[in-house]
Amino acid sequence: MTTSSPARRRVAVTGAASGIGKALADMLRAQGDDVIGVDLKDAEVCADLGTPAGRQEAVRAVLERSEGVLDAVIACAGISAQVPATIAVNYFGVTELLQGLRPALARAEAPRAAFVGSIVGTKSVAPEVVEACLAGDEPAALAAAAALAERGQGGALYPASKTALARWLRRTSVTDEWAGAGIPLNAVGPGVVLTPMHAAVARTEEQRRIVAQAVPMPLHGHAEPEVIARALRWLTSEENTHVTGQVLYVDGGAEVVLRGPDRI
Ligand code: NAI
Repeated sequence: MTTSSPARRRVAVTGAASGIGKALADMLRAQGDDVIGVDLKDAEVCADLGTPAGRQEAVRAVLERSEGVLDAVIACAGISAQVPATIAVNYFGVTELLQGLRPALARAEAPRAAFVGSIVGTKSVAPEVVEACLAGDEPAALAAAAALAERGQGGALYPASKTALARWLRRTSVTDEWAGAGIPLNAVGPGVVLTPMHAAVARTEEQRRIVAQAVPMPLHGHAEPEVIARALRWLTSEENTHVTGQVLYVDGGAEVVLRGPDRI
């Protein structure tokens, strides 16, 4: 097994201005890595990953700053609103960015990639949205998402974005472009993480009770963002030579509780 190299690695992190992405960017900088943060604001590259033009700009600017070579790309940016933009940011903002930066990864000696999924990505919801995502048809995915939101089912959009990501991961990670090019591609699936995103959906005692019931975490309870950042750091380190296509649930046991003991 390869051991960690002390060499300074060049890493792009989306969502670097807050929560999990910020914890990860801080951690990587503290170990000496050259981090190119991408976010709406307060980042090296400011771009809106919710639009095709914003993603293109993000890819262009990251390639410029990295001189076309990246040791790792880690996509953390996301939103949880019950609107179609959640599909645009969470699914297309991850997959298009990773695909756009893949050539720069392929030029590195030990490239790695990862993104943040979720425990809710284990749910079978909004199949029409998920299928349009997997077909790479953003206009169709957004139209299907808008139709759901109009019917008052916008709550399915966040889980749908993460389910589509988990399925994209399994299809993509073992292709010639990724595994064949020596690039492990994985995800971390958190349960509840104590970030601004969580604070926004758990403002009242009743909301916190509903979240705790939906995501049972018998081991250590809700996690600080550094917990997720450490798992992302390992998956994208040189130490990870053979893990690919996996969602690593860092969720205090939620996935096991929710899916049951007999799933393998
Ligand atoms: P956060 O709200 O603290 O940070 C998200 C970051 O993404 C922010 O800096 C925000 O500006 C950026 N972002 C949002 N939309 C963007 C856009 N269109 N373009 C560029 N940047 C954009 O949230 P948190 O909790 O750190 O979330 C990070 C990831 O973790 C997300 O993918 C989220 O779905 C996932 N996650 C979070 C959980 C939680 O309980 N907090 C649980 C499971 C998954």
